[in-house]
Amino acid sequence: MGRPSLFIVASLLTALMAGVSCTFKLPDIPGLPLIPELPPVETVIHPVPGYGVLNGTVESSVYNNRTFWGFRSVFYAEMPTPEMRFLPPLPRKPYPEDEIVQAIYNNAGCVQHLPYGKEDCLSVSIYTPYLTDDSSIPNTLLPVIVWIHGGSFRSGQAIEYLPGRFMEEDVVLVVIQYRLGPLGFLSFDTDEVPGNAGIFDQIESLRWVNKYIKYFGGNKDWVTIAGESAGSASVSILLLAEQAKGLFHRAIGESGSVLAEWAVDRDGRGKKASMRVAEIAGCPLDPYEDLLDCVRTIDAQALIDAYGQFREEDLKNGGMGFGASNPVMQIAGAQRILEVEPRKQFETGNYNNVPIMFGANKHEGVLVFSYAWKDYLEPNNMTSNATFLENDLVPNILKALHVRDDTGVLADALVDKYLADADMGDFTSMTPGLTDMLGVLFLKSAGYETVRLHSLHNEHSYWYSFNYEGRNSLFIYLFASNPPNYPPVDHGVDHADEMIYLFIYPFPSDPPFLDEREKDLSLKMIQVWTNFAYYGNPTPDDVELLPGLPKFLPYSRDRESYMDIDCEWESKIDYTKTYTISVDDIKAGHIPCRCAGLDADVCFR
Ligand SMILES: *[C@@H]1O[C@H](CO)[C@@H](O)[C@H](O)[C@H]1NC(C)=O
Ligand SMILES: *[C@@H]1O[C@H](CO)[C@@H](O)[C@H](O)[C@H]1NC(C)=O
Ligand SMILES: *[C@@H]1O[C@H](CO)[C@@H](O)[C@H](O)[C@H]1NC(C)=O
Ligand SMILES: *[C@@H]1O[C@H](CO)[C@@H](O)[C@H](O)[C@H]1NC(C)=O
Repeated sequence: MGRPSLFIVASLLTALMAGVSCTFKLPDIPGLPLIPELPPVETVIHPVPGYGVLNGTVESSVYNNRTFWGFRSVFYAEMPTPEMRFLPPLPRKPYPEDEIVQAIYNNAGCVQHLPYGKEDCLSVSIYTPYLTDDSSIPNTLLPVIVWIHGGSFRSGQAIEYLPGRFMEEDVVLVVIQYRLGPLGFLSFDTDEVPGNAGIFDQIESLRWVNKYIKYFGGNKDWVTIAGESAGSASVSILLLAEQAKGLFHRAIGESGSVLAEWAVDRDGRGKKASMRVAEIAGCPLDPYEDLLDCVRTIDAQALIDAYGQFREEDLKNGGMGFGASNPVMQIAGAQRILEVEPRKQFETGNYNNVPIMFGANKHEGVLVFSYAWKDYLEPNNMTSNATFLENDLVPNILKALHVRDDTGVLADALVDKYLADADMGDFTSMTPGLTDMLGVLFLKSAGYETVRLHSLHNEHSYWYSFNYEGRNSLFIYLFASNPPNYPPVDHGVDHADEMIYLFIYPFPSDPPFLDEREKDLSLKMIQVWTNFAYYGNPTPDDVELLPGLPKFLPYSRDRESYMDIDCEWESKIDYTKTYTISVDDIKAGHIPCRCAGLDADVCFR
């Protein structure tokens, strides 16, 4: 199949990432197909012994027209019953042998702030260039990449990650769905509502892959988990989870880690937020039996809506809006993950010690800044309040991150590092420093620290910095409305922008296709990601690398190598030197490389 139609695209924009105010909404027309996808040109019937007989699609990759097969929305777990609503899932029962399971279209995704979400959503979509009937020859089976989508643990779905680029390579791609928002992460710290159900979904999907992926040409002993943002935080949680041991063999994390404050709630904060969500939903808070009965049986969408209201309230009060919708340090439940502080566990080395490749984007902070502007600063009329900007903004950022700074020493240090050149009190002048600071505090340092800690136990630890400023950006679509309410900042290389080159990512691309330079970037990234899945090394010696791909050196404490991904790829030293990149670029009069040279005239924004 080709690229998604503009119609799909518009319907998906709201789902993409954090905090999307519903600018685009699908019309709520009864009878409209749940998620419109282009009908397949060709289909295939494929039996999966012990599971069911699937009807899938025959498709081609985007660059070289290679044939591959797709099996969308194949359920790995049962829909939770009310009693099981907040607990680890049960595996899907096999289908009768005489039933044809339709695996042609991606299903509606898990319930979220979009119409059409379903509770029966625990599915994997499988794409493979190698559909063999003979799964008895394991050494012909391909490595598998299991993709865990982002979206702040509360949005996202498989249809947003189409495989046309990855299918250039000999790799099996599996895109999973997991419970989102309060349905995946509500936590009362009790055995009935212990938290982390969404992560247990991810683990169950890996068990399904372990059991059945050989029937799709994939090798169960050659599995890479990969994810972006909350998906990357999930990847790092799975590194720590005993229950996921042996189910994967490499890990890729793009722009996120469990070491980020937003990724895990602790100290009872998850429970407090969850109680507030239940209260907004109209549930009685006591006795506990009534509360439990209410959250178990309330309409799923109503619970999501209550969370949405909680989030708005929390953001306006300077919080991060993640509570009741993110993983927790678990203290209840028959099955538990995250019982040990993640940093401690990474320090000890007592976890799933596999090769990892993590990275972050140049202007991660732009998204955080934009939401802070839209949901906190603007509603509270603070962008023009010089007193607030000068004295209270940075301390409030630390408060949102639950960092205690009684003496103000930390806030001062942050101002010194990021805002030394700014006219404190003038929002415009502070913007570059703020985006740098927010990018580091919310995303960059947590990911980098993960690699730094992991490198103590595994020499296969890689870090990249994605610096290619393309024509498209998630930013443009998140904040495009009519009239656009663009935050007062350039999109730069925003959070999630690297995925444009890995997936057929549902932007209403303007321009619609990758140009030659972007295609070159995409092919290189697909090769590097796939190499990593094969070898645990992005650029191994015995693989012929695409022209312009230098050696991607591992990170170690004494040689702090990382890969700078831009028009040119370059191995560099000491990523922390780039923490003030926006401020430094302004001083240096930096022009994005795509805006230099022959293409300068087509460079916009
Ligand atoms: C397989 O899917 C195609 C497309 O939806 C459909 O036309 C066809 O009837 C299906 N085949 C079977 C055996 O269900
Ligand atoms: C792609 O390959 C198929 C055969 O596998 C062929 O029928 C089709 O014409 C090719 N399409 C393009 C655009 O080359
Ligand atoms: C916002 O603050 C500015 C100055 O601090 C003031 O002039 C303006 O009236 C305020 N606007 C609102 C909507 O409160
Ligand atoms: C500006 O912010 C400060 C807090 O830093 C607050 O006390 C003051 O009322 C605000 N001024 C206006 C005009 O809103």
